[in-house]
Amino acid sequence: MRFTQVACATVFAAAVYANPSPANNAAAAAADSTTLAANAIQSGSFNDGQQETGSEAGQAASATSVNNFINICAGKTLTNGLQFTTGSCNGIPMGDIPAKTSMISCIITNPQQNGAEIPSDTDFNITVQVANLVAGSFTNADATYYAAPQALSGGKVVGHTHVTVQDLGQNLNPTQPLDATQFAFFKGINDAGDGNGGLTAVVTGGLPAGNYRVCTMTSASNHQPVLMPVAQRGTPDDCTKFVVSGNGNTINVAANNGAKGIAAAAAAASAVALGPDVNVAQSSAAGATATNTAAAAKGNGKAGAAAAQASPAATNAGTANAGQAQASGAAAAKGQGQAAGKGGAQFGGGQAGGKGGKGGARRAKREFIA
Ligand SMILES: *[C@@H]1O[C@H](CO)[C@@H](O)[C@H](O)[C@H]1NC(C)=O
Repeated sequence: MRFTQVACATVFAAAVYANPSPANNAAAAAADSTTLAANAIQSGSFNDGQQETGSEAGQAASATSVNNFINICAGKTLTNGLQFTTGSCNGIPMGDIPAKTSMISCIITNPQQNGAEIPSDTDFNITVQVANLVAGSFTNADATYYAAPQALSGGKVVGHTHVTVQDLGQNLNPTQPLDATQFAFFKGINDAGDGNGGLTAVVTGGLPAGNYRVCTMTSASNHQPVLMPVAQRGTPDDCTKFVVSGNGNTINVAANNGAKGIAAAAAAASAVALGPDVNVAQSSAAGATATNTAAAAKGNGKAGAAAAQASPAATNAGTANAGQAQASGAAAAKGQGQAAGKGGAQFGGGQAGGKGGKGGARRAKREFIA
């Protein structure tokens, strides 16, 4: 019986893919329509799954829809390309899904499991080898976050990956989940690397001594986690744990409480505050105002010539309240509202990076130096 079902599915798939041109034409014609095309309706969502193939005891009934849930977000806060820290509803379709033979898989090749300890406050590279990702494609994360479906090129997902490093605390095997708002280093790897799946993130300045986990987060161009065609599979991502030794305790600028981390979060918050569809000219005008505010707050007239994206960030970080949702993680936890403001203002003034980082807080004496 199962064989019959599989055979039917195969025949159906063959029929769908045998003659792609008319389908593509229809898709193109329907692309700008504000109504759902009849041939885009997914009948698989008509039923809750309780009576269908594969039903098993204890399963949850699926939500159902006869219109692909096209109005699921009506009346809610729409994600709308923005990074709402308080949550939102995203109505953008999931998009193209690769074949099973093109599923993404990756391995972190440095740092290594049980590898040599990395000296604190010292540059090192996180290197990743990834298969079946057309790497190097990323969209504006402040304006087009989750704003377009996953897409393929040559049958492979187009996108990018990130590496995120988190502090594990006193040892490599904590028993409680880590706080996802806290990271010691975060970097989107936005280039195509060596062109053969080899990607690198340079951890400039290194990390404070401690125990860490580094993970990849593989994404489509618009930053959503990658979607794969079958449920039973290996993960597209990798994590590994490593030790940073010595006495260094300098927070990396790309930490959540480093200058870059604060500025990036503030920029995203500022984009939310401005709302969707704000073009560069508009944000530039807003930026000028924002910069002045930041400069006034800091008493620094040199903060004037800021980039459009950076200026709102400066405002949010520079004023104690506007960017609070984003910046407060570091500021409140460490009691460093002033430091956060300073970091943001420096970024707005075009002096991001090391200077902001050094201006930022140094970690208090760490209790978990290995
Ligand atoms: C890190 O990677 C960069 C770019 O590939 C390379 O130039 C540099 O030598 C590497 N640094 C280390 C410490 O391996």
